[in-house]
Amino acid sequence: MTFHVAGRLRGLPQPATIAMSTRARELRAEGADVISLALGEPDFPSPPEAVEAAAAAGRAGDTRYPPIGGQPALKAAIVDKFRRQNRLDFTPEQILVANGGKQVIFNAFMATLEPGDEVIVPAPYWVSYPIIARMMGGVPVEVPCHEASGFRLRPVALRAAITPRTRWLVLNFPNNPSGAIMERADLEAIADVLRDAPHVWVLADEIYEHLTFDGRKHVSLAAVAPDLAGRILTMNGMAKAYAMTGWRVGFAGGPLPLIKAMTSVQSNATSGVCTLAQAGAVAALGSPFERVETMRATYQARRDRVVAALRALDGLTCARPDGAFYAYPGISGVIGKTSARGRLMASDLDFAEALLEEAHVATVPGAAFGMSPHIRLSFAASDAQLDEACRRIADFVRTLR
Ligand SMILES: Cc1ncc(COP(=O)(O)O)c(C=O)c1O
Repeated sequence: MTFHVAGRLRGLPQPATIAMSTRARELRAEGADVISLALGEPDFPSPPEAVEAAAAAGRAGDTRYPPIGGQPALKAAIVDKFRRQNRLDFTPEQILVANGGKQVIFNAFMATLEPGDEVIVPAPYWVSYPIIARMMGGVPVEVPCHEASGFRLRPVALRAAITPRTRWLVLNFPNNPSGAIMERADLEAIADVLRDAPHVWVLADEIYEHLTFDGRKHVSLAAVAPDLAGRILTMNGMAKAYAMTGWRVGFAGGPLPLIKAMTSVQSNATSGVCTLAQAGAVAALGSPFERVETMRATYQARRDRVVAALRALDGLTCARPDGAFYAYPGISGVIGKTSARGRLMASDLDFAEALLEEAHVATVPGAAFGMSPHIRLSFAASDAQLDEACRRIADFVRTLR
């Protein structure tokens, strides 16, 4: 008997982020000294207040099924966070707590997409948006955001991509993988385009909002254009700013009918998020914000180190990321060259594979994010690791012929 895979799963790509870190693990198991800059995971501990609150919740017997959409205390903390940090007003009923930001996206697309509905995904993009859209029968429509325009979404490009079938626009700034942000004026111009397209909803993934550099600040689209708030889902989570990836707590605020439909999806999938993790999230949101600021400043210093090292290399270009914790250098200058071990660099996939196999540095090829030829390096790693990785990359690039 052959195993039947449902049509909705056929042809979906394996995220290259996972493929590269898996290969890095294999090489390590064989004894190689691999530096992995492939995963987007903070290298800081979670806030001690969160750990303590989760343990206390367990001891106090907070171990029963939680409400599907989130514990009242966490919803209240999120309402407060949106009001203080984003100038967004939601009632607790307009908040959904999910198993990570990823489940917010899953719920939203499952709750709204009909077969053939289009989801505009500015490229480069985080790998999961087009995959989840396709799982739900949607059609991802990529809109390139070029390095020359700072990887920002240009209003003309957005306007050209909108059709009568467009259901969603995904806006992820600060962006994974490019580190680009959208400033107020950029968002105002995007809002103008959206005003002419009342059938288009916006998923604003703001999970990197606190990780911005050089004094730049993230602004929420729903705050810039309150008249559009009725069709904006603002998504965030504990993973990146609070270094709480393993806790699986994401959340969103949005229009009530959408939140209700998403809650119904979640009710039939995972139910409410782990009670202990929710208690930890409440404590983290109330913990001293200086800790987030310290991590942000550390990422900024690392960014400067990595960008300077990469810019010194012939054949590579490197835009300075304004946020998140990734560099996204362009590698068009090395395409067509051959490595010391005879590998032809026909694409960024070849480059990333050769860099891993020959120099033992794991990165992710830009093809995974819909914009080539680039590679993505995470600078959520120690200075020593970053310096050593950059030295290896430099040696590798120098030996290309
Ligand atoms: C842009 C973006 N959105 C959402 C997520 C998902 O975060 P979570 O761990 O909360 O599911 C990630 C994680 O890498 C991300 O990079």
